[in-house]
Amino acid sequence: MNVAHELAPTRAQLEKLARPLGFVPTMGALHAGHLRLVEVARRECKSVAVSLFVNPMQFGPQEDYERYPRDFEADSALLAQAGVDLLFAPESTTMYPPDFSTFVDVGKLGTRFEGAARPTHFRGVATVVAKLLHVVEPDVLYLGQKDAQQTAVLTRLVRDLNFTTRVQIVETVREADGLALSSRNAYLSVQERAAATTLYAALQMMLKEIRAGRSVEEAREAAVRVLSSQARLEYLNLVDAQTFSRLQTLRPPAFLIGAARFGRTRLLDNLWIRE
Ligand code: PAF
Repeated sequence: MNVAHELAPTRAQLEKLARPLGFVPTMGALHAGHLRLVEVARRECKSVAVSLFVNPMQFGPQEDYERYPRDFEADSALLAQAGVDLLFAPESTTMYPPDFSTFVDVGKLGTRFEGAARPTHFRGVATVVAKLLHVVEPDVLYLGQKDAQQTAVLTRLVRDLNFTTRVQIVETVREADGLALSSRNAYLSVQERAAATTLYAALQMMLKEIRAGRSVEEAREAAVRVLSSQARLEYLNLVDAQTFSRLQTLRPPAFLIGAARFGRTRLLDNLWIRE
């Protein structure tokens, strides 16, 4: 199999696109959060490319790779409507030939929080995004703030591996009741969906308490009280925005990050404290 040969039509299309070229990597199951990334990319760039690839390397063995929502027809219609110039939806064998063995190791940052819960996750994310950046060679990479640690990992990857792409982080899109949009919200029952809104409420409470001068621990205790009894909290912490090491006092730029399970669904959310 010759991967360069398989990618030749995509490369030829990419070469025709006007610059600057914005790039939005996705795993499909598109929602308004993805479309916001496309909208911002369209505003800031002359062309926009989107990838759609459910990346097996970023799922652990017990995770939801098989049941991850997939609807190629609906996704490509949404992207056409949003004015995307190029949709790159590679086959798994194009991204990972049978003897594939080269990975991007993201170091300590990739072992904290999400990396602790999902030990091979960031290696998988970094590897696929490095490969996508090689194929697409965009001027700007658009990432959603909802996956805060992913934005830190990929910003670091771009810097460490000398990609010339600029990383642009776009704020989380929320439902009217505050729930951050996520493809995994589709798994929630009505009761779980109602309980899930308390993750954002808890983060807001924690920020309010920290700003009011409480210690991080006191603020965390107040935040936990806001969480639904149905939530199984995994973490709720104040971290440095670049290293994701814990902070005991507010030192922006920082994130308040949270992860909790609602039924079988694990959700993330965060608040970005820029100053
Ligand atoms: O955020 C996602 O959807 C994925 O982690 C990404 C960046 C497309 C890599 O597979």
